[in-house]
Amino acid sequence: MVDKNTGDKEEKTGITRRKFTLGVILASVAGAFGSLLALLKVLSPEKKGGGGYVSTIKPGDKLVYAKGGKQGDFIKVSSLNIGDAVLAYPAGKASNPANIVQLIKLKESTFKPPTHINLTGDGLVAYSAICTHLGCIVSWVRNQQSPDTSFTECFCHDSIFDPLRGAKVLSGPAPIPLAQIGIKVEGDGTLVFTSGFTGPIGPQV
Ligand code: FES
Repeated sequence: MVDKNTGDKEEKTGITRRKFTLGVILASVAGAFGSLLALLKVLSPEKKGGGGYVSTIKPGDKLVYAKGGKQGDFIKVSSLNIGDAVLAYPAGKASNPANIVQLIKLKESTFKPPTHINLTGDGLVAYSAICTHLGCIVSWVRNQQSPDTSFTECFCHDSIFDPLRGAKVLSGPAPIPLAQIGIKVEGDGTLVFTSGFTGPIGPQV
């Protein structure tokens, strides 16, 4: 015969154990989620009120390669041909992802407004490399036949930017152009930033 009292007690104990185990699992998941959020906060660029990121580039910072075998090396003007583009950081400031720029070499005479011509140098122009839609890093689409008609594209949702016209949006969901930043060639052929960004950078939606 089943002792009802004992049966009840065992059932209650079982429920209590299950509740305790569930509590431990939820607490672990919450802890892991909290750690993940903290990690993402560290890895994410500082955000500006109203959208966008905060760059720490200052005039005088030298441009270095952001990727590839030459990562961290100073970029020299002689290493770029018309139609080339590279991703760059200011030397010593790669820890802030908001600082990444796309450095592009085109024919100086082909730049048109709203490009800030005074912020270009020797056919080189630099724009924020962070898409203004949701923040993916943009890519360079090189036209092999006609290098000076190459363009910038964000492959996340296919926004296309015109590098000859202030990186204005030609198509896609990006709400505003990629902000330009001033650069110039130094006497030794290396490149330095000469200004801050001309507009907001990072995702604007
Ligand atoms: S993040 Fe670039 S188009 Fe969406």
